[in-house]
Amino acid sequence: MGTDQPVRSGRARNGMFRTKTVEQSIRDTEEPEHVLKKSLSALDLTVFGVGVVIGTGIFVLTGKVAKESAGPSVALSFVLAGIVCGLAALCYAEFASTVPVAGSAYTFSYASLGELPAWIIGWDLILELALGCAVVSVGWSGYIRSLLDTAGWHLPQVLSGPHGGRFGFDILACALVLALTAILVVGMKLSSRVTSVIVGVKVTVVLIVIVVGAFLVTGANYDPFVPPSQGSRSGSGLAAPLVQLMFGFTPSNFGVMGIFSAAAVVFFAFIGFDIVATAAEETHNPQRDVPRGILGSLAICTVLYVAVSVVVTGMQKYSDLSVDAPLADAFKSVGHPFWAGLISFGAAVGLTSVCMILLLGQSRVFFAMSRDGLLPRVFSTVHPRFGTPYRSTVLLGVVVAVVAGFTSIDVLAELVNIGTLFAFVVVALGVVLLRRSRPDLPRAFRTPFVPYVPVLSVLASLWLMLNLPAETWLRFAVWMALGVLVYFAHGRRHSRLAARP
Ligand code: ALA
Repeated sequence: MGTDQPVRSGRARNGMFRTKTVEQSIRDTEEPEHVLKKSLSALDLTVFGVGVVIGTGIFVLTGKVAKESAGPSVALSFVLAGIVCGLAALCYAEFASTVPVAGSAYTFSYASLGELPAWIIGWDLILELALGCAVVSVGWSGYIRSLLDTAGWHLPQVLSGPHGGRFGFDILACALVLALTAILVVGMKLSSRVTSVIVGVKVTVVLIVIVVGAFLVTGANYDPFVPPSQGSRSGSGLAAPLVQLMFGFTPSNFGVMGIFSAAAVVFFAFIGFDIVATAAEETHNPQRDVPRGILGSLAICTVLYVAVSVVVTGMQKYSDLSVDAPLADAFKSVGHPFWAGLISFGAAVGLTSVCMILLLGQSRVFFAMSRDGLLPRVFSTVHPRFGTPYRSTVLLGVVVAVVAGFTSIDVLAELVNIGTLFAFVVVALGVVLLRRSRPDLPRAFRTPFVPYVPVLSVLASLWLMLNLPAETWLRFAVWMALGVLVYFAHGRRHSRLAARP
C-alpha cells in the first residue's frame, strides 16, 4: 500500500509534533499479531451507527430539555445539533476514508497534527466513550427498574445507584457492562449480529412513537412554541452556560438562548456516528463504505429525532413531560399504557446496543494508542482465536462497569458532550492540514468546499461548547491536564514512532 515517505523533518521525528505517515498507519495494521478481522460492510456500519446513535439522548434527554430549557422548540435544538454533527461528519468521512485504521480521530490526528495532539484526542475519546457508555448503562438500568416495578419486583435503593446524595451502587448498570464486555471479547461477528436485531427493535419503537403518537397530538400544546425567556433555576455562577457568563447575560432558560443550551445537551443524542470511523480497519472496503456508513446513519437519526420531539411535545404540555421516561409517560398521560410499556421495553433493549458499541469504540481507540506505544503495549495483542483486542476490552469494561455503578447521569453527559465537540474541532482542523501536507493521498471521499466546511464545523462545534456550563469546562480542563501529564510520564518515551530507525 503506497510508497515509503521520507521523514519530513528532524523536528517532526523527535518532537511531540512528530507525525506518523498515513502509509505507516496502514502498514501497522498489516503486522500479523495486530491484525483485526475484516468482516464489516457499509450496511453493517450503518446499523452500527444507528445502533449507537439512538439512545439515552432521544429516550431520556428530550423530555428533560423540553421541560427545563426549550419547550416544543426542542425540535429546533435537534436540528441545530444535527447541523453541527453533519458538518463534522463531512470532515470525519474524508479522514476515515483516507486513513482506514482503528482509532478514529486519534489516528487521523496522528497522521496530520502530530503525536501530542493525537494523544490529547485519544485521551479525550477515552472520556467520551467510557463516560458515554457509563451514562447509557445507568439510563438502561433505570428503564429495567421501571419494568421490574411494574411487575412488582423492587430493587433495594442501595443496589439502584446513587440517589439525591445518598450512597448506592447500580448493580444492573454494572452487570450490563460486564456482560457486554464478554460478548465483545468473543468477537465482532457475534456482536454485530446481536446488534442488528437490537437496532431493529429500537427503530421500530421510535417509529411507533412517531406514527401512533401523531394521532394523539393536541395543537394547543405547541403554544408557545418558543417559551419566553425566564431566570435560571440552577442560579448563576458555574452552573450557567459559559457564553452567558462571558457576555454578562443574566443566566436564563427558554427563549432563543434556551434553544442553544438545549442543543448543547441533546447533542448527546447524536454521539456515536463518529464511532463508525473507529471500525474502519474491520471493514471490507473502507474507502467506500465508511463515508456511506457515517453519513447514512446521521441522516436517518436526525429525521427520527425531529419527528419524535415534535410528536412528544404535541402529545403532552412541555411543562408536564416526565424527565425519566418521557416518551413512554407521554403515552400514559393520554391514556395508552400498552404503548407506554412497549416503548419502555424497546428503550431498554435499544440502550443495550448503544452501550455495547460505545464500549467497542473505546476498546479500539485504546488498542490503537497501545499499538503506537503511547499506552502500555501489552494491550495491543489480539486474541489468537477470536481476533479481538481482548486485553484492552477487558480492562476498559471493568473500569466502565465500576464507574457506571457509582455514577449519576447529568454531569457526566455534559462532560461527554464537551469532549466530543472538542474532538470535532480537531478533526476539522486536521482535514485542512492534511490536504496541505499530503495533497497526493487518494481520498475516496472528499469534504466539499474545503476550507469553508471545516472552518464552519469548527465554529459550530465551539458555539455548542460555549453553551455548556462553565463547570463542565473546568472538569474538562482538569481531565485534559491529567492526560498531558500521562503523556510526558509514559507516552513520549515509549512511543513506537520515536523508536523507529
Ligand atoms: N447518542 C447516544 C445516546 O443518545 C450516545 O444515548
